[in-house]
Amino acid sequence: MTQKLGSPGEARGWCAEARARGGRVGFVPTMGALHEGHLSLVKRAREECGCAVVSVFVNPLQFNDPKDLERYPRDFEGDVRLLAGVGCDMVFTGTLEQFFPESGGDARRIVGSEPGPAARGLEGARRPGHFEGVATIVRRLFEVVEPARAYFGEKDFQQTLVVRDLARRMGRPEIVVCPTEREPDGVARSSRNALLEPAWRERAPAIHRALQAARGAWRERGVRDGAELERTMRAVLAPHFPDIDYAEVRDPDAWTELMPTTPLARAQALIAVRAGSVRLIDNLRLD
Ligand code: PAJ
Repeated sequence: MTQKLGSPGEARGWCAEARARGGRVGFVPTMGALHEGHLSLVKRAREECGCAVVSVFVNPLQFNDPKDLERYPRDFEGDVRLLAGVGCDMVFTGTLEQFFPESGGDARRIVGSEPGPAARGLEGARRPGHFEGVATIVRRLFEVVEPARAYFGEKDFQQTLVVRDLARRMGRPEIVVCPTEREPDGVARSSRNALLEPAWRERAPAIHRALQAARGAWRERGVRDGAELERTMRAVLAPHFPDIDYAEVRDPDAWTELMPTTPLARAQALIAVRAGSVRLIDNLRLD
């Protein structure tokens, strides 16, 4: 049975009891509209910790675009049903005011958490305030749940770096990064895929193909130059996506704001494109 709780206060009490009974809590923070990607994290948390807790909260602090926030898909009851199917022990939600009572419900009065150096460049540069909003809610969620481990998807690669850095500064929890779950045609699962118009959904596999082309260039042709890997990805994307936000590479172990200009020893390729009114991101490790 999945326990369903309506506020962070109740969740705090439930988690404290679970820990008092000697349980290890595995935690998966989400914004709901759950799919196989989220569920893979919940299953892993359950396997490794014996107890899986999920939060569902569409965090307004991390939306730089008000339209994106407004139409972000929401289906709490559907989410609870999916979670029950994978053995989730507890799911909770709450309001901005409940998460930050000190703000009196006014987002401008919430003291943000510094997102650290991994927030520079790419998503951080295109979405001002986004990673600060992520760090602020994730810090509060960690304070509520006090998990032994927290599970994040590689799908949001830069976010995993920001969260690792936050957990290091907080001294807990252990961060586990899980592989990206994909549709059969390679498209990374995402809550925003439900908002794609059919014509853009048809083009979406080109993103994964572009990432794989970069991996092919790295592995088969020995390409280590960022600019050349960028050209390889853009050549695959351009016929399908007129609006490429970025198609770049980074050293995953040494994040830099800009793409490195010297030959890479390791590489993560990262893409963001506009698909009509929806923005899609994906990434792939090349080495
Ligand atoms: P959300 O987009 O709901 O994602 C919740 C978690 O699921 C994140 O760690 C994300 O990387 C992971 N995830 C999403 N799609 C995935 C996929 N296809 N395969 C594997 N994992 C996937 O990320 C957020 O919410 C928010 O920023 C949050 C961390 C909850 C803070 O508000």
